[in-house]
Amino acid sequence: MSLIRIDKYLSVACGTSRTDAKQLLKTGAITADGIKITKADTKVDESACVKNGDSLLVYKRYIYIAMNKPSGVLSACNDKRVKTVIDLLPEELKREGLFPVGRLDKDTTGLLIITDDGDFGHRIISPKSGIEKCYLAGLDGDITDEDVAAFCKGIILADGEECKPALLERVGEGKARVTISEGKYHQIKRMFGTRGLGVVTLHRLSIGGLLLPEDIPAGGARELKNEELGAI
Ligand code: URA
Repeated sequence: MSLIRIDKYLSVACGTSRTDAKQLLKTGAITADGIKITKADTKVDESACVKNGDSLLVYKRYIYIAMNKPSGVLSACNDKRVKTVIDLLPEELKREGLFPVGRLDKDTTGLLIITDDGDFGHRIISPKSGIEKCYLAGLDGDITDEDVAAFCKGIILADGEECKPALLERVGEGKARVTISEGKYHQIKRMFGTRGLGVVTLHRLSIGGLLLPEDIPAGGARELKNEELGAI
């Protein structure tokens, strides 16, 4: 049994603010297991049968969202000046406690997971999990066999920090796919920097077995399906 306040339940189940949830309660239309509830601080079990009039409401404890992050927005929850990935979410996906799992730089694009499940978030970014993240990098030069070998051995960054072995593959002139299993600050840009290469564009293609879904346009986001989550 897991009890939560009815206003929280409603804000999650209906995708509204707590203020709107309180208004809804005032209408007298909300029942839990057949009992009318009007007070916002009443606690209900997560598995209770909560209805708005005749409509059954569904409460999902956590939400897992995939975003195709565009360039120019911050991977942060809020910022006074710059738009964040949370600002970009459509209203029906917004709820309290959402955060981006790991950070992509402001100019990096591609797959970003946003959730309100802290344990899940930590598991994904923990170096112990070893989950691979794959990126497509546009470079200001072409990679060599020596670069591939250096990535494979494990790059030592300019400040002496050691990176785990990474897979570097040439996919075209000035274009490479990089797979890393950790997430140090500006890691890919710094790795290429040690090889005298500048990263012009960076796009995350996948996290573990989850590829950026093709139906999400740049700046778009949608809830992940169970099988997509399971692929990570
Ligand atoms: N590595 C970087 O340098 N930037 C990112 O946004 C992600 C990985």
